[in-house]
Amino acid sequence: TSAQIGVTGLAVMGRNLARNFARNGYAVAVHNRTVGRTKALMEEFGHEGEFVAAETAKDFVAALERPRRLVIMVKAGEPTDAVIEEFAPLLEPGDMIIDGGNAHFADTRRRERALREQGIHFVGTGVSGGEEGALHGPSIMPGGSAESYDSLGPMLEKISAKAKDGTPCVTHVGPDGAGHFVKMVHNGIEYADMQLIGEAYQLLRDVAGYSPAQIADIFRTWNTGRLDSYLIEITAEVLSHVDAATGKPFVDVVQDQAEQKGTGRWTVQIALDLGVPVSGIAEAVFARSLSGHADLRAASRGLAGPKAKKLSESEAAAFADKVEQALYASKIVSYTQGFHEIAAGSDEYDWNIDLGSVAAIWRGGCIIRAAFLDRIRAAYDARPDLPSLLSDDTFAQEIADAQDDWREVLVAATRQGVPTPGFSAALAYYDALRAERLPAALTQGQRDFFGAHTYRRTDREGSFHTLWGGDRSEVEA
Ligand code: 6PG
Repeated sequence: TSAQIGVTGLAVMGRNLARNFARNGYAVAVHNRTVGRTKALMEEFGHEGEFVAAETAKDFVAALERPRRLVIMVKAGEPTDAVIEEFAPLLEPGDMIIDGGNAHFADTRRRERALREQGIHFVGTGVSGGEEGALHGPSIMPGGSAESYDSLGPMLEKISAKAKDGTPCVTHVGPDGAGHFVKMVHNGIEYADMQLIGEAYQLLRDVAGYSPAQIADIFRTWNTGRLDSYLIEITAEVLSHVDAATGKPFVDVVQDQAEQKGTGRWTVQIALDLGVPVSGIAEAVFARSLSGHADLRAASRGLAGPKAKKLSESEAAAFADKVEQALYASKIVSYTQGFHEIAAGSDEYDWNIDLGSVAAIWRGGCIIRAAFLDRIRAAYDARPDLPSLLSDDTFAQEIADAQDDWREVLVAATRQGVPTPGFSAALAYYDALRAERLPAALTQGQRDFFGAHTYRRTDREGSFHTLWGGDRSEVEA
């Protein structure tokens, strides 16, 4: 038999992706560095479709029809390079290596360039949706050559999640590292979404006085409206879960120190390099980092805070509605920032990424899937040159309607001493963008004062410097 696709690396993501291909009628070659995993897959799931188990790299490559499609699902970083080094010499021009791990897009660019010299297509592919997504339909973000997508696209479309309108959640994002770049920003937005939801929870608990079970119900209600999304849905599940050992809300027995594997951090690092203000995503990354500084937090626990005053029951219900407004408005801002970063990356690397189709393939399968993304798709489809999501009339109007409540929620948070870095950064971004004048003019003056860094004027072309140490006359620089 010859397999149409092969998967090497059979940890849970690789195994589930292989099963997904097989369940969709493809013959799948499977391989793992240690054969135990391959055997386990065959024993447990071999009946699900047509698998070809390969023990060696050579057998694996020989099992694939040409041009070969070889999916690697190993840990990002060195393990990926090791697998490429092992397989590349066995491949022939026209073959494809598809990296479905969470690779850094710069690594993907490097690998793509190196393999292109050998005539091999390297397809860095973002895959989102966790274990369940890999099995039942992930959102898939392939980069690499257009030619490789001609061959791979139909298969990926088959195994991907489908949006509500039936469209597959996969598109050729752009060349070389474009797919992994978009997956990275997806994760940055994922961090921001999670942080904003966390802040909403904390406000409902500490300002409004609701219990986790009550807050779960509030989230369930929100999930029937414009916030309808996977993350809101699972938030309600987590909040209503009760710890069996103690009988306490599960959320109260988990250590409050958030971990991260790095993709959110990369989103911010790259944004800094590209000069894109992703303040909401950055605050989400910093909030995780702060939570993990147990010693620092212990040392700070005695610091003074405001006198806390909880709301009455009737005030609490009205407050919850305002938190929904604040959460929604802040969410619009994080997506605005994330899409700005994708646009900037696309410009920098000539990827020609279509922002509307990125929003479209995030509608299903991935962690940030949400009804809201269909509206972002519509906004970019109507105006592909939209300068920012905030320039879309519908989103601008929604923020206009939300802003009073958003501000009030932040006043309450500040009064009660509840940290809301995500909500606050989002509002600051919004207010800064719409401001007539920013204090950046003063910054320029200071820079010119201490370092003769020069400034531009509002009324004339050119660069200028004021002789601060002399008679303070202005000279053209
Ligand atoms: C996805 C997720 C996934 C990521 C986890 C963990 O889209 O399926 O983004 O790729 O690995 O969310 O990320 P952190 O450990 O950084 O929170």
